[in-house]
Amino acid sequence: MDKIFVKGGEVLRGTVHISGAKNAALPTMAASLLTEDQIILRNLPQVRDIETTGKLLQEMGCEAELDQISKNHMCILRAKDPIACEAPYELVKTMRASVLVLGPLLARLGQANVSLPGGCAIGARPIDLHIEGLKKLGATISIEHGYVKARADQLIGSKVVFDQITVTGTENLMMAASLAKGETILLNAACEPEVINLANMLRSMGALIEGDGTKTIRINGVSNLNGADHTIIPDRIEAGTFMIAGAITGGEIELIGCQPCHLSTVINTMRQAGVIVEETERNSCIVRAPHEIQACNVITKEYPGFATDMQAQFMGLMTQAHGTSIITETVFESRFLHASEMIRMGANIKIEGNQATIFGKTSLTGANVIASDLRASASLVLAGLVATGETIIDRVYHLDRGYERIEHKLKTLGAKIIRGSK
Ligand code: UD1
Repeated sequence: MDKIFVKGGEVLRGTVHISGAKNAALPTMAASLLTEDQIILRNLPQVRDIETTGKLLQEMGCEAELDQISKNHMCILRAKDPIACEAPYELVKTMRASVLVLGPLLARLGQANVSLPGGCAIGARPIDLHIEGLKKLGATISIEHGYVKARADQLIGSKVVFDQITVTGTENLMMAASLAKGETILLNAACEPEVINLANMLRSMGALIEGDGTKTIRINGVSNLNGADHTIIPDRIEAGTFMIAGAITGGEIELIGCQPCHLSTVINTMRQAGVIVEETERNSCIVRAPHEIQACNVITKEYPGFATDMQAQFMGLMTQAHGTSIITETVFESRFLHASEMIRMGANIKIEGNQATIFGKTSLTGANVIASDLRASASLVLAGLVATGETIIDRVYHLDRGYERIEHKLKTLGAKIIRGSK
């Protein structure tokens, strides 16, 4: 099994190109199931979750040339009849976001059998809100043998109020409602840029959607959707991770092909910490480390709040800040597993419930650490960049799910980082 070896102490400088957003790409791939026509997706990141989704679509009978993703970051998808209505456990268990096929399958075929994803390291992560929403549109849903079995001859538009904001739940309902009869109103919907990205693609397929990017989304169902040619937005989490890589190592990095407007809360928080972030053009920015990083507090929240997917990386930065910072995690119940690994590297962090108190600045020393989830692995790489000696990160398959060639990109910036299996 691959590991990542980081020798800390290098100052990172240079330019990095930000890849397409994994979390924006996944629902657009699922949306290809809504039509028999050809879907062209561009700027797809070359990461494991995209590959898994491609395989899942192929398994259902969708045509997908997956080798195009590694060649030129694009993929042509075509879900011609007949397509199967089942998402099997073997694929779903490796990637929760597989649940995104539930809405499209139900809307297109009138039935869907999708394996329940189960828990993951950051919490129970149920899909009850997806199920309740689809029931509101008239679906009959039962859980049998670990599968969600959904049926509906014709979905009927309705008012769906989400008790809690859910990103993939909003996306699933938006896709299902696009082919429902009549109007659907989603209330307390997610406002994330990834939801807007999906709405843009659905509109170019002929869907009638308004209000995406706000908490109220209105969808007027149509009887058919057509093909589309869609470009995925840049990955705001990858961009934020590289911003921290620049700041934590005392360096200066230019990020090309990012959208700083999707990162305003992260950028504002970085500025509070003293980091200089300069938006150069519409699609790029420069990050300069300050002489001294200052402690600051963070509360994770749905967009436009501070993204939970940036929490672990920011904790890494705060271990190098002067003073005490408090990070409050409000989106997932157990998303501090990286803290215990950082403590093993010498960080001074106290966890109480959903709050982490980080006492800085501490000198980190390289250690053998285990990645528990995607963003936790990134935070350990960041910690390794400033630790003295070597940090060996195990279970890097988590990292590969969502970061395109991260060690290559960091190496180009001057990091001493390699992948190996010793
Ligand atoms: C998405 C992102 C993930 C990010 C998360 C929060 C994708 C593929 N993944 O995950 O990277 O960390 O948003 O920004 O886009 N919940 C329920 N019932 C449900 C659905 C959610 O209780 O039916 C809870 C979850 O357990 C969690 C909260 O709602 O506590 C938010 O989860 P949600 O927004 O649904 O996360 P995902 O869409 O799975």
